[in-house]
Amino acid sequence: MALWTKAGVWMAGPQLALCWARTLGTRAATAPKAVLPFEAIPRCPGNRWLRLLHIWKEQGFEDLHLQMQQIFQELGPIFRYDVGGKHIVLLMSPEDVERLKQADGYLPHRTAMDPWLAHRQHYGHKCGVFLLNGPEWRSDRLRLNPDVLSLQAVQKYLPMVDSVARDFTKALLSKVLQNPRGSLTLDIQSSIFYYTIEASNLALFGERLGLLNHSPSPTSLAFIHALDSMLKTTVQLMFMPRSLSRWTSPRVWREHFEAWDYIFQYANNSIQKIYQELALGRPQHYSGIVAELLLNADMTLDSIRASSIDLTAGSVDTTAYPLLMTLFELARNPEVQQALRQESLLADAKISENPQRATTELPLLRAALKETLRSPHEEKTWHAPHHSSPPTAEETCCQGCGVSAPVLKNFQVETLTQDDIKMIYRFILMPSTLPLLTLRAIN
Ligand code: HEM
Ligand SMILES: *[C@@H]1O[C@H](CO)[C@@H](O)[C@H](O)[C@H]1NC(C)=O
Repeated sequence: MALWTKAGVWMAGPQLALCWARTLGTRAATAPKAVLPFEAIPRCPGNRWLRLLHIWKEQGFEDLHLQMQQIFQELGPIFRYDVGGKHIVLLMSPEDVERLKQADGYLPHRTAMDPWLAHRQHYGHKCGVFLLNGPEWRSDRLRLNPDVLSLQAVQKYLPMVDSVARDFTKALLSKVLQNPRGSLTLDIQSSIFYYTIEASNLALFGERLGLLNHSPSPTSLAFIHALDSMLKTTVQLMFMPRSLSRWTSPRVWREHFEAWDYIFQYANNSIQKIYQELALGRPQHYSGIVAELLLNADMTLDSIRASSIDLTAGSVDTTAYPLLMTLFELARNPEVQQALRQESLLADAKISENPQRATTELPLLRAALKETLRSPHEEKTWHAPHHSSPPTAEETCCQGCGVSAPVLKNFQVETLTQDDIKMIYRFILMPSTLPLLTLRAIN
């Protein structure tokens, strides 16, 4: 779930910022400096309630990342920003974020995402790892890691993601080849969403939905719509105290709840299905992350359900938009595209033999995906992607690498649009307009 990190900033409560100041103090190696008070952090001028009024009137805060970038330029790499009921400290440099995380230690504290919490509280649902804090977060998180993030786990579900990526490419290729020109200009965004949902549903629940070959089911379309609506309304509500927004924004709250209701129903339905199948007998083969969690039986069903909902909701837009933007950037940087294609072709045999190699054999492609995640898209930074360090299981971006390699091998991706696309903040960053992309079959 992409958030402040994508804009290169981090959000923390005042107590965390104090922590940060303290570590800064102790780290000043030579002469120990006095710790500055919290108030010494530069504060962005302006009235926090007027800011809120603006968000309310605009029904969102779509240029949040651009505003923050500008304030960093004016106030330096750390500043305080108050909006409505929230007091936020923003950090710019990755080193500072790292220090903050280190000071956080074993029990990092994340700011509660209040509108999401309100939904869980209203129905008495348990929270998943995304919303938990403290010992409860740590205990669930440690139980999830072996089946979700460990290298062994990734190696088990990577072939699943890979098979979906190949189907995605095959389905596109057959559409492209139906055209006499051997090319197709399409709205690739919806295809990419079907791909991320299909891949994540297979890796999580061991079930194929068939989104890539048939016309997508109303259920999947409604799921995509619910995610979109949940993200948009989150920003409208997240800076406002509940006691106030209850009066000012009842329609937004209703939309927010209805969106979550649908997401819960959708994810819960998948969990119930796999639960029933496992109750009927142990599967012979690996059948996805949630099955492993259920079979291990070291988390309660409610905890598994809560975090599976986070995984289901968190895996769609986060991967779809970066993939879309990567294809767009490659389309307008044909030399980079050609270099990545060469890399994919060279690595092809090794990866077909062992799909797990996709994470180690494609350093340029990994660097390109990372660059898309880093880039705020106001300037063209794309002409010289830097090489990345070797992958760790945690940062393995397997959905991205998984699909980009087969796409690049089969298609030349082209666009007439050279201009930057404005990114908008709707809890995650997404493009404000969709570029037309043309896929041309190679050979
Ligand atoms: C490029 C894609 C993605 C980006 C940029 C991204 C970004 C983030 C960020 C910034 C956080 C908050 C970290 C924190 O609060 O310390 C987060 C947490 C989380 N993300 Fe993602 N995410 C991505 C993909 C995914 C995917 C594919 C899934 C699910 C399969 C997912 C599930 C989660 C979950 C469950 C958490 C909460 C983890 C915890 O608190 O223990 N995310 N993500
Ligand atoms: C999920 O579905 C089960 C069975 O249909 C139901 O008992 C449970 O309350 C539901 N849980 C959530 C969180 O919706």
